[in-house]
Amino acid sequence: MRVLVTGGAGYVGTMAAAYLLQQGFEVSVFDNCLFGAHHLIAFSDFPFRFIQGDIRDPHAVFAAMKGIDAVVHLAAVVGEAACLVDPTAARSINLEGAKITLAASQQCDVERFIFISTCSNYGISTPNTLTTEESPLNPLTDYAISKTLAEQAILASETSLITTILRFGTICGLSPKMRFDLLVNDLSRSAVLGVPIKIFAPQAWRPFLHIKDAARAITHCLRAPHEQLNRQVFNVITENYQKKDLADLAEKHFPKSYIDIIDKAADLRDYQVSDRRIRDQLGFTPSFTVEHAFLEVAQAIQQKVFLDPLWQGFSGVPEILRTAQT
Ligand SMILES: NC(=O)c1ccc[n+]([C@@H]2O[C@H](COP(=O)([O-])OP(=O)(O)OC[C@H]3O[C@@H](n4cnc5c(N)ncnc54)[C@H](O)[C@@H]3O)[C@@H](O)[C@H]2O)c1
Repeated sequence: MRVLVTGGAGYVGTMAAAYLLQQGFEVSVFDNCLFGAHHLIAFSDFPFRFIQGDIRDPHAVFAAMKGIDAVVHLAAVVGEAACLVDPTAARSINLEGAKITLAASQQCDVERFIFISTCSNYGISTPNTLTTEESPLNPLTDYAISKTLAEQAILASETSLITTILRFGTICGLSPKMRFDLLVNDLSRSAVLGVPIKIFAPQAWRPFLHIKDAARAITHCLRAPHEQLNRQVFNVITENYQKKDLADLAEKHFPKSYIDIIDKAADLRDYQVSDRRIRDQLGFTPSFTVEHAFLEVAQAIQQKVFLDPLWQGFSGVPEILRTAQT
């Protein structure tokens, strides 16, 4: 099967593309290189193609789609910090870009379209209740609003494609295109380096997903029978964690961690998510825990895999966007 991964040079996309290649898929990555794409260079020995382009450019997307069987749409401006640099561009990339990619997929007779969305779309939910795919969406940020609108546009479209939406928990774990702004990765880095870290709203719950399980879930959906996937939304998470338990995890492995627990939070997200549907309907179960992610990141830092783990380029805000504003 020939798969086009948009945003495949990003944190999740790089690991997803690597796993797809390992599983025998032919992979094309379409990305405008907001973070570069040098981390994909070693893929050239596999059935792999890199296309540099912007998903808001219908001609470029259409050209990339020829001969493709399935599209995994990851390209986006990800997270609130990145979206706030240029909210109009972020909305256009996250919403119009998704619509353009869906339309090009339809025109080019692609069979499957998988849209990667986020559990952030749930916002705050009823305390002590598991949020399901049927729960109301309550996006609290520009980022989540744009992802919610894109989901709605895809589900409302009259496309004949097999369309599936995967709502990922916050990703954790290692990638060649690393992000240290994500909570578990940041916590692990801070614990190893002895850098103080603040945990806001310790009672708040969040769903997390190990990056390898994100890649496994995508592959699982590409292989699942059409009738189980079409027009379906699935939550994909490894486990729900209360933020204070993440602090305990850090202190368990690094007793000298400097963790400042702050009761107030600017970020109001608080939700626990059920992944029962993807388990029951598609037979997908995650293989890696949050603790696995925490420990693998910690080990990589201890082994000096990252020369400067505090480098700003490991944040979720592309340097290009940051410097364009100054
Ligand atoms: N990281 C998480 O915790 C998380 C959680 C849930 C869902 N997701 C979703 O997973 C996807 C990937 O997230 P990530 O963490 O890998 O982010 P990332 O920022 O590392 O990767 C996004 C990629 O999209 C590319 N891109 C951005 N604008 C583009 C455009 N106009 N044209 C072409 N490519 C463009 C970037 O160059 C980058 O390579 C996103 O759709 C995000 O909403 C991520």
